[in-house]
Parts: sequence; structure tokens; C-alpha cells
Amino acid sequence: MQTREKWRSGLGFVLAAAGSAVGLGNLWGFAYRSSQGGGLAFLLLYILVVLVVCLPVLVGEMVLGRSTASSPFLAPVQAAGESWKPLGWLFAISSCGILSFYAVIMGWTADTFFHSLFIGLPVDMVEASDFFGRISSGNSVFVGQIISLVLTGSVVAAGVRGGIERLTRWAMPLLFVLLLILAIWATTLSGSWEGYTSFLFKWDPSQLLDKTTIRNAFTQAFFSLSLGIGIMVAYSSYLDKNNKLPKEALGVASFDTGVGLLAGMITFPIVMSFGLKDVISESTVGALFIALPTGFANLGLIGRLLAAVFFGLAFLAAITSSISLLEVPVSSMIDRLGWTRRKAVWISTFFVFLLGVPSAISLNFLGNMDAVFNVFLILGGFLISILMGWFIPSKYDQDLASSNSDQGVRRYLKFMIRWVSPPVIAFGLIVSVIDLVQ
Ligand code: PFF
Repeated sequence: MQTREKWRSGLGFVLAAAGSAVGLGNLWGFAYRSSQGGGLAFLLLYILVVLVVCLPVLVGEMVLGRSTASSPFLAPVQAAGESWKPLGWLFAISSCGILSFYAVIMGWTADTFFHSLFIGLPVDMVEASDFFGRISSGNSVFVGQIISLVLTGSVVAAGVRGGIERLTRWAMPLLFVLLLILAIWATTLSGSWEGYTSFLFKWDPSQLLDKTTIRNAFTQAFFSLSLGIGIMVAYSSYLDKNNKLPKEALGVASFDTGVGLLAGMITFPIVMSFGLKDVISESTVGALFIALPTGFANLGLIGRLLAAVFFGLAFLAAITSSISLLEVPVSSMIDRLGWTRRKAVWISTFFVFLLGVPSAISLNFLGNMDAVFNVFLILGGFLISILMGWFIPSKYDQDLASSNSDQGVRRYLKFMIRWVSPPVIAFGLIVSVIDLVQ
């Protein structure tokens, strides 16, 4: 039995968890989803879903990890018995499934970064679709996917402190500061105001009841917070008893929402200023890989430099997320099979690579993987809320009490995870499944 690693500090844990949350989902998902008509209504629903259902579940995952000091595969069984074994499997399948296509998109990101610096970016719409065709097909996709997976594997192989914490400690503050600078720069563009008011902050109250907007709010919240997949269980299993989990969960959720908003405040001014409005709502990846490179390219050499900064940051954000996805199967193999970290990393990385090959070849397949696994995340969140709220509610409360969390906060969380999260997530799950099969 190997001794369990620990985070160097509480802040290290929060930054690693924030690193997992902040990723490509913030950079493309937020902009894409609010451009589908939801605007401010989407944003409000998203914040509501985060506060009402996601925060109690996020704390639930953290408690599950910390109280069992066990990997996501074993923690549910250790906490509540053999009948919870399927939840461990769900975590393992979802994390490998998501990482398989996430690594492909990371590869496109790296390729766009490379084009910004050395080859050049598209300057009009004709060139733009050609550009996207180039980065998303052919052998370069495999190269990007392999580089992304090998880098991910190397960080995870270096361990919790020496790899994950060491990277996220400097990457997250840097990411936030640079995004803030880019967002301030974007306010100076001619179409900035129109960009905010036609998309991000467009107010149409009827959207509050729109099926797609509701599904978008749920999907974005779970995907963006890395919830329902066991990541926070894995990360919290390396924690000490004295971290105040509710406060830390709120910190992670606020940071994550802040980055999503900043990404929107960069994307929409560029889109409006360079007449790229139609691209953005057409496809999930349109904003990130078609509109933004074209917009940046229209600013000449300085634009290419800004594009390099932006796509470099996007890759950094992605890698702090992909390492957390890989940590789920890796920590599970170490605990369950007694493998060394190194062996677990490279075997699971190879498996994830094979699983990702169809997504690297077909955009359609990738889209379907994304849609299906988003539903898995919501299902995972639902099961966690049932586990913590109905099967082991005293463990939930005791763990929070032992770290001196405020009593009012504890009461709120206990009530929410038992009475509010399960029905609301079930509602989100049903709407998502209906929308998926339609
Ligand atoms: N939260 C990250 C993002 O928004 O890109 C990545 C991610 C991790 C997504 C884990 C989904 C997930 F289950």
C-alpha cells in the first residue's frame, strides 16, 4: 500500500480544482451557448443552477473524497456500500470518454496557436472555413491529440504535488490576469457594445422558459464545473481535514463563472467588430476556431500576436482540465489494482488515445460524444445528490462540521442536497435527454 499524497496547501487545492473547472468549456461553451438566443436569461439560469444545485453537489463530491480518502472508483462503495459500485464505474467511463474527445479539441487549439505564430490566420470567411477544415482533419489532428495526451500524462505521472499542483499554482493566476487584459482591450473595439448587448447581455424574458436555454444552463454548469464525474472526489481525497469546503467550492465556482464571462467579453466584441455574427451560433466550435482566429487576423501582426496569447492560454486552461480528467482513472487504478502511478498513467493514456481515434477522424462522432457525455455528467450529479442527501446525510454534515464550517451554511447545504438538488437535477436530466433524442 502506497502512502497517500497530500496537497502542499489549501490554496494549491483550490487552484487545482479551479484549473479543472476552467477549460475549453469556458472559452467556447459560454459564448456558444449564450449566442443561441439565451443571452442574459441563459446567464441568470446558469448562475441559478450553479448556486442552487451545483454548489451542494460540488461540496458533496469534495466531502466524499475527503471523508473516504479514496479514489472515485472506490469512494462511493466505501461510503455507502456495494450497491453504489455503479457510480464508480460511471465516473471512470465518463472521465475516459470526455478526455478522449477533449484531447482532440486540445490538438486543434495547439494547431491554431502554431498557425498564429508561424503560418498565419484566415482573414475572411472563405479562408476561415478552409482553415477550420485544415486544423480539424488529416494527420495533424492525430499529432495534436498525441501531444496533448503525452503532456497530460507527463504532468499526472509527476504526481499530485510535483505535477498537478506545481502547474496549476502559476497557470491559473496567469490565465486570469491575461484574460482580463484581453477583455479590457476588447472594450476598445468598435463593435464591443453591440457585441455585449446582442449576445451576452441580450434580455429576452421568454428565454427563461425555453427548453434549449434551460438545457444549455444545465449542460454548461456541469461541464464547466467538472461536476458529476468524480474529479472533485479524486482531488479532495488528497486533502486535510481543516479545509473549509463550502468556501472553497464557492471560490472555484466564482472563478469559473468569471472566466466564462471574460471569455464572452472577449469573443463578442471581436465577432461584432469584424462581421462574424453568423459563424458563432452555427456550430459549437465556430466561435473559438473560426470567428476568433479571423477576427484577430484582421488586426494584422499585432492581432496574430494576440491570437498566440489567447490560444496559448486556451491550451494552458485545457491542460489544467485534462490532467484532472486523467486523474480519475489513474487514482482509481492505483487504489484498486495497486499499480504505480507511472504504470496507471501510461496505460490509461493509451486507452484514452484509442478511444479518441473515432473523434479525431469524424467531427460528427465527436459531437455525439460531447452530447452523450454531457448527459452522463448530469446523471452523475443526480446520483451524488441522492447518495449524499439520502444515504449518508450525516457523513455530509459531520465532515463539514469537523472543519468548522459555518452552521448556517451547513444547514443550507444539507437542505439543498436533500430536497432541492435531486428534483431539480432530475428535471434538467429529463429536459436534456428529450432535447438529445429529438
Ligand atoms: N471543466 C473543463 C472545461 O470546462 O473545459 C473540462 C471538463 C472537465 C469538462 C471535466 C467536463 C468534465 F467532466
